[in-house]
Amino acid sequence: MEFFIDTADVEAIRKANDMGFISGVTTNPSLIAKEGKDFHAVIKEIASIVDGPISAEVLADDAEGMIAEGQVLAGLDPHVVVKVPMTPEGMKAVKGLKKLGIRTNVTLVFSANQALLAARAGASFVSPFVGRIDDIGWDGVELIQTISEIFEIHDIDTKIIAASIRKPQHISQCALAGADIATVPFQVLMDAMKHPLTDNGIARFKADWAAANMK
Ligand code: E4P
Repeated sequence: MEFFIDTADVEAIRKANDMGFISGVTTNPSLIAKEGKDFHAVIKEIASIVDGPISAEVLADDAEGMIAEGQVLAGLDPHVVVKVPMTPEGMKAVKGLKKLGIRTNVTLVFSANQALLAARAGASFVSPFVGRIDDIGWDGVELIQTISEIFEIHDIDTKIIAASIRKPQHISQCALAGADIATVPFQVLMDAMKHPLTDNGIARFKADWAAANMK
């Protein structure tokens, strides 16, 4: 399973990229709005940092509008993947963008049927929202597992991005469930890296070294 970072915060992206474990970025309109900067400028800046797929979302409701927006977004950088919502118009846009050679990430996926339909429409990526499914008392990781099994049985090469990751446990659970990618907020990545025994171990090694007066 690969890691993408789920943010539009350029400084967080830079820090995570420097640590070597991210291979892409996902954004959404809420994350872009939070930064209070020009949408296209932010996407271009992200593309100058990360050498991998960068999802940028369309806002139109109709396929024609989504395709037009998608073409502009894809023109910003070759790494841009156009994020399209899981709607009938979205599916038409996925098909149209594919014809133009533009990759799509179908977002707001909450069921296996939605993922399968998006894959068959021609999506390069699907994004099931694990945390938001947990929020309504269902099991987000189980959905990842189901989609992964269906894609395996039917030899579908659309990549599964486990999205809406809220805690470190989601990461390993989604990896076991067969996600190709987890897109993770910066803080959750940092939390996943920590372990109290690692910190204790470093402190003990230093203390032992100092006690023996090693140089
Ligand atoms: C991913 O593509 C989505 O932008 C994101 O993971 C949504 O996460 P949230 O449910 O925490 O807002």
